[in-house]
Amino acid sequence: MRIAQNIRRLDAYVPGEQPRSARVVKLNTNENAYPPSPACAAVLKDFDLDRLRRYPDPNGLRLRQAIARLNRTTPDKVFIGNGSDEILSLAARCFVDDGGTIGSLDPSYSLYKTLAAIRGVAWKPSKNVSLFLWTNPNAPTGTLAPRDAIAAFARTFKGVVLVDEAYADFARANCMELATAAGNDNVIVMRTFSKSYSLAGLRVGYCVGPVELIDALYKAKDSYNVDAIAQAVALAAVRDQRWMKANVRRIVRTRTAFTRALETRGWDVLPSESNFVFAQPPAACGTAQEVFDYLRGRKIFVRYFPGPLTGARLRITIGTDAQMQTLLDALDARGTRRR
Ligand SMILES: Cc1ncc(COP(=O)(O)O)c(C=O)c1O
Repeated sequence: MRIAQNIRRLDAYVPGEQPRSARVVKLNTNENAYPPSPACAAVLKDFDLDRLRRYPDPNGLRLRQAIARLNRTTPDKVFIGNGSDEILSLAARCFVDDGGTIGSLDPSYSLYKTLAAIRGVAWKPSKNVSLFLWTNPNAPTGTLAPRDAIAAFARTFKGVVLVDEAYADFARANCMELATAAGNDNVIVMRTFSKSYSLAGLRVGYCVGPVELIDALYKAKDSYNVDAIAQAVALAAVRDQRWMKANVRRIVRTRTAFTRALETRGWDVLPSESNFVFAQPPAACGTAQEVFDYLRGRKIFVRYFPGPLTGARLRITIGTDAQMQTLLDALDARGTRRR
């Protein structure tokens, strides 16, 4: 056979739909509704084409320095990747031996199972594994685990704990200090530019951790995994913390108001520390699948994950106030009863 067995058997990861039309309300992939910093636009506008003739800095030193400063650590503890998805894929290669196991919360980011299958190892919703991917805040639930719980687990865990903090900028707390503290030798904390920095299309993520683990990732990566434009634009974004934080504040404010609006309509909404909510419609509204289909018919895209743990709820990205109002109006037009 020409195709490796694990790939032949693989159920490929299905990303959220990317409709071609701009005339939709797109609340299905946790993108940021607000634009990236104007400093990013300035970098693109002035980008010297001659820099594309040459290869980029293979280790992205300037960006690593800026990320290190932001997180009060040193550049040798920072790895940058082509989106945090690349870092997850590298972690599966670097921190799991053949015959090992990758674990995560369940439900969680569904890509993890696919990455394990590509790597040819098992995935288990268990902590008795080689590499544990702890999504915090979790997805699709949006809920936050206390830092102490993660620290306590890491202390006794023999393998690597990668805390996937894709949504941490929208949360009240995070685990970065577990990755930067001296003496912690098995915790990596991962972040992305795709959510809070509004740069999902750029494909830049990073992680912070002990030098030994970070070096392993550098050994295994493609030579030029983050392109020159991505490095320059991400650097501009990191330097404009005020812009990112202002967008985060707006989204958190909208999240609070939208949660309340759903609750007054009888929905059950999990307490979210991210830029989405995971919410169950009341029986009067129909099943999650029915509401999903109805909204899709109105060009409002949210995410539905079938299955026993997730199928009763919808994951709804927090967009602008106007987008959330469009969604609420659509629900009301369907005749949801208010409590
Ligand atoms: C929990 C989690 N981790 C990682 C990612 C991937 O982010 P990136 O765009 O940096 O690859 C996502 C994207 O939705 C996510 O939800």
